[in-house]
Amino acid sequence: MLIYAVKDYEELSRKAANIISAQIILKPASVLGLATGSTPVGTYRHLVEGYQKGDLDFSKVTSVNLDEYRGLSGDHDQSYRYFMNTNLFNHVNIRKDHTFVPNGLTEDGAEECADYDARIEALGGIDLQLLGIGGNGHIGFNEPSSVFTRGTHLVTLTQETRQANARFFASIDEVPTQAYTMGVGNIMAAKKVLLLASGENKAQALYDTVLGPVDPMVPASILQLHSDVIIVADEAALSLLNDKI
Ligand code: F6R
Repeated sequence: MLIYAVKDYEELSRKAANIISAQIILKPASVLGLATGSTPVGTYRHLVEGYQKGDLDFSKVTSVNLDEYRGLSGDHDQSYRYFMNTNLFNHVNIRKDHTFVPNGLTEDGAEECADYDARIEALGGIDLQLLGIGGNGHIGFNEPSSVFTRGTHLVTLTQETRQANARFFASIDEVPTQAYTMGVGNIMAAKKVLLLASGENKAQALYDTVLGPVDPMVPASILQLHSDVIIVADEAALSLLNDKI
């Protein structure tokens, strides 16, 4: 694991955007695995700036997102499709038909999951997977569990995760109860993984991810077994790890 320790969220966002930019410059037809949530917002802002300055070209890039709430349409302002459109896709020259997010409205959940895995496979796999991390160590919507998950699947969200995400909804009752997510297996199959962690509420999860045992109760800990992981974390997120790395 390569760990970049940065001062704060702004520095984290710049560093992450630089790493993603390098990926796109080195391989213009990259397949990017993308994440939503608060953490990557600054990264996407910097990528948009890079595009506006003429430094970045997304015309050959394909993206596959980690997850989507079940039951929300892409027009819903809390869907992850909407998030990606408004934070990145609408502002760069990526082809919209080259951007993939699980379809939250699919009737047949099993078919949606199988199709999503087949799509990733047909694209030749993910070149760079961007990840945030939950306070409980989740990646995508892979919650602590007794086993590591393999492919894309439907999950029932924990109360903790619904509570954490309730800040984006009018009330917790409006937070969907289920979501589609890539599995840990999909994430581990990515050629490179870029994990971002910002803030003190991520410190324990980051500590367990880097130094704890590989344990499905901390889904991100499996990244210890991946051969090409970059972590960019700020001082607060690294507060428990500082003298140990
Ligand atoms: C988002 C995702 C989640 C988030 C995680 C951290 O697509 O898959 O795993 O990365 O919940 O969320 P934030 O960044 O909001 O703290």
